[in-house]
Amino acid sequence: MSITIRPAGEQDIPAILTMVNRFAAQNVMLPRTEASVQQTLSDWLVATDAGDVVAGCGSLVPLTDTLVEIRSLATHEDYQGQGIGGLLVQALIDMAREQEYEQVCALTLRTSFFERLGFTVVDRWSISPKVWQACIYCPKFHRCDEVAVLMPLVEKPAKLETKPPAWNGLLRWDSWQPLKLAYQQRPDHHEE
Ligand SMILES: CC(C)(COP(=O)(O)OP(=O)(O)OC[C@H]1O[C@@H](n2cnc3c(N)ncnc32)[C@H](O)[C@@H]1OP(=O)(O)O)[C@@H](O)C(=O)NCCC(=O)NCCS
Repeated sequence: MSITIRPAGEQDIPAILTMVNRFAAQNVMLPRTEASVQQTLSDWLVATDAGDVVAGCGSLVPLTDTLVEIRSLATHEDYQGQGIGGLLVQALIDMAREQEYEQVCALTLRTSFFERLGFTVVDRWSISPKVWQACIYCPKFHRCDEVAVLMPLVEKPAKLETKPPAWNGLLRWDSWQPLKLAYQQRPDHHEE
């Protein structure tokens, strides 16, 4: 099958939204609004087939000056298992490198998929707290089962942090402790 990975255009937005929000309805990713895709369109890639039908998509979301997240990665059900997801991740990594990010991360239920592509599973609390900003919109906020995966893009990331530093006043790690505690104290939660 001939697949092209290219920057998303306005004409791709309906297909992106339909696909992402269908998966969101299955609780495997966060929903996206038309406005949010529109506003961030230059951060999106799509995979298209020979007829320019959108078979997959993915976006980069900057979290800090050095860390970027792969978000809304999706391959249409009719096209899965053919390497498109892998191509999209690789192209998003290349895009992150070109933009001089030092690390790329993702929150995922497909840990082995990302590991096969060179990511490492990390403590979900060890990467930037900003990664959790979108979580308040997630229906699984109180029962998060996503795993954080990370890939360094430079040999020695200047700010590779195993522990969040003192962020600014609003994003201090301490201020996230209640969230962490609430998570850990869920009766059905078992620390992995
Ligand atoms: C996760 C997702 C994006 C993967 O997309 P995909 O196009 O199926 O990805 P690939 O085809 O590259 O890889 C999928 C599997 O097929 C295998 N595969 C890749 N190319 C293949 C080929 N030519 N023949 C057979 N198998 C192949 C891969 O090894 C991979 O296996 P793994 O998941 O055990 O690692 C897709 O399943 C999806 O959209 N899921 C719903 C949304 C979601 O969960 N998104 C992730 C949010 S982080």
